Amino acid sequence: MTDDLDALRVETETALAASPDLRAWDAVRVGVLGKQGRLTGMLKELGKVPHDVRRERGARLNLLKDELAAMMETRRAALDAAALDARLASERMDVSLPPLPRAAGAIHPLTRTMEEMTAIFGAMGFTVGEGLDVQTDWFNFSALNIPAHHPARADHDTFYLPGTRDGRPLLLRTQTSDVQIISMLNQPPPLRVIAPGRVYRADHDATHSPVFHQCEGLVIDRNITLGHLKGCLTDFLRAYFDIPTLPVRFRSSYFPFTEPSMEVDIGWNRRTGDLGAGGDWLEILGSGMVHPRVLANVGLDPREWQGFAFGMGVDRVTMLKHGMPDLRPFYESDMRWLRHYGFNPLAPVALHEGVA
Ligand code: DAH
Repeated sequence: MTDDLDALRVETETALAASPDLRAWDAVRVGVLGKQGRLTGMLKELGKVPHDVRRERGARLNLLKDELAAMMETRRAALDAAALDARLASERMDVSLPPLPRAAGAIHPLTRTMEEMTAIFGAMGFTVGEGLDVQTDWFNFSALNIPAHHPARADHDTFYLPGTRDGRPLLLRTQTSDVQIISMLNQPPPLRVIAPGRVYRADHDATHSPVFHQCEGLVIDRNITLGHLKGCLTDFLRAYFDIPTLPVRFRSSYFPFTEPSMEVDIGWNRRTGDLGAGGDWLEILGSGMVHPRVLANVGLDPREWQGFAFGMGVDRVTMLKHGMPDLRPFYESDMRWLRHYGFNPLAPVALHEGVA
């Protein structure tokens, strides 16, 4: 024979089993064990129960209370575990899936060349200097021994800008050689500095762009000779083109800011375009011993300090090294071209053998 206590046990058990989540479970708990709950009510009513059955009923109610509480805990643990399982299942990821395609960036070939120049000259003790794209004609020309009306000014197809600075006309620098002047003014010798950077000339075809890049170099010290210039540039060119036997030729030339001046050629095969052999010569950079007048222009005594300077086209050596026929794509931001010619940003810039 069942009574109200047995009924409560069975109904609670059924309701717990049917509760799908913690909310439903809590409703069952409150309905039985809460302040207004059925079992709480029965305990409260105990006083009204006839004396002869009160004691036994009280003992049974307390047992039932423990039993129901344990039943609830069991169900709650089961619901907790199920909720965790469901969450794990919903957040599960398949590590064997292929990754989503992500457009990795590439280092622009010009940037890469300037990084390589910095690494190679850095190993020879050079620091990197910077000039100004908007420069005065004094830094770009006059201080470099190219006074107004000098024919070399006409060769540069200069973009002049409105306005002046320090009373001097403004222009877009036509060469990185301004960094020679800046470096000597800012820092007492001895110094070794290179300056990769942007330069501007009003010129545009397959091998000329109105904006292009040069890398300047300057060494000032006591007792610097042409031998240092030749050794330094030969080492650089062999390292940069990664050809230890690259033929290098120094040919007498003229630049207003160097005396003597030299153009530097490397050996190549004109027909195939291969560098390093073939009996033909390709002009690659300008150089020379810093002109005494340039030293005097920045307040250095040419009897105490000598040095050499050089300048080369970054675009040009990049095209040569990688066999690029046209310079215009450097400035067109065509992603297909960049993906083809660009460099892995994670690959380190290697120093090639032969550079101490
Ligand atoms: N500035 C020169 C040019 O743009 C290149 C150059 C030649 C730089 C000789 C130098 C140098 O420092 O010594 O054509």
